[in-house]
Amino acid sequence: MKETGLLVSARDFIEKVHTELGLPGTEDRISLIEREIESTGTYRHLTHELEHGARMAWRNSNRCIGRLFWKSLVVRDCRDVDDSPGVLRALFDHLDSATNNGRIVPMITVFPPRRPDGTEPVRIWNKHLIRYACHKNPDGTRVGDPAQEEFTELCLRMGWKGEGGPFDLLPLVIRCGEETPVMQPIPKEKVLEVELTHPDLPWFGDLGLRWHALPLISDMTLEMGGIEYPAAPFNGWYMLTEIGSRNLGDENRYDMLPVVAGRMGLRTDRSDVFWKDKALIVLNEAVLHSFKSAGVTLTDHHSASEQFMKFMRNEELNGRRITGDWSWLVPPMSASALRVFHREYDDTVVSPNYHYSKDAWKCPFH
Ligand code: ARG
Repeated sequence: MKETGLLVSARDFIEKVHTELGLPGTEDRISLIEREIESTGTYRHLTHELEHGARMAWRNSNRCIGRLFWKSLVVRDCRDVDDSPGVLRALFDHLDSATNNGRIVPMITVFPPRRPDGTEPVRIWNKHLIRYACHKNPDGTRVGDPAQEEFTELCLRMGWKGEGGPFDLLPLVIRCGEETPVMQPIPKEKVLEVELTHPDLPWFGDLGLRWHALPLISDMTLEMGGIEYPAAPFNGWYMLTEIGSRNLGDENRYDMLPVVAGRMGLRTDRSDVFWKDKALIVLNEAVLHSFKSAGVTLTDHHSASEQFMKFMRNEELNGRRITGDWSWLVPPMSASALRVFHREYDDTVVSPNYHYSKDAWKCPFH
């Protein structure tokens, strides 16, 4: 029976929360939940359960190298917000408070959970709250972030125009229950962006590159104690290489390596002169320098690796097993110079956790 499954998950979760927080009354709380499930088919987390659950879910995120800071996650309880104006307001507030003028605060906003019948009271269609559109030129070439091609098309079909250019902020698309999805541009002043310059190469600024300060994932489902929160957007701060190596360097993203290498005067007709490697260094130097100068929190891959080693030591001291996904934990640059590279990780997925959700516009309920 479904209820039994939910109760089993709830029990496991409540026991962990009570142990970790040193709370009494575990059996009483579980009996209450049992009765709640019997009468309503679900149960409601108490505030401290929601908070600690969201933090545990971060701690259990096998692909995240930044988990040392899991306890600092600020949890905003928006489980009673289920109307579009309210959701938009909560998202804009999240942008403001998490950006915090550059001193990024790790934060999650939790909207109502999935109902026992499987329906979602709130869903955010953007994969990341802040992303740049992918526009198509008449000749078929693309401008902007190719990773956003499908979502950009969706917005255009919904009547969005955009301003064009390579860094054109996409609007928010949210849906409350069975209502028509609502599309809303994000006010510019809510999005902190950093223009990229290089400390030693004056031409770098002419490339007109920039990136946003906040990595805010909005399409993952937070699961804890058998309850799923399909709308629970969260952010940490960036690790340098996410922007400098991947977003700007990947061939299927901004593909800037040939451009940067060209400006550096490197020959690009053979790979063994390491033009890609050198261009990657310059891109990452530019991102680090620009974020630092703008006072925006960002960690480089060397610090992130050391922080992760500290996280592992802490977890061991607390008698918890560490799970991880090597292929994601190891940064894309200078891997073997980082300690995270030189060991193995158990990739078991434990609960609570954040899970990928199916694209909202492809879901049966939406
Ligand atoms: N890699 C993603 C991006 O470039 C962000 C993923 C989450 N990253 C983080 N530092 N919390 O936007």
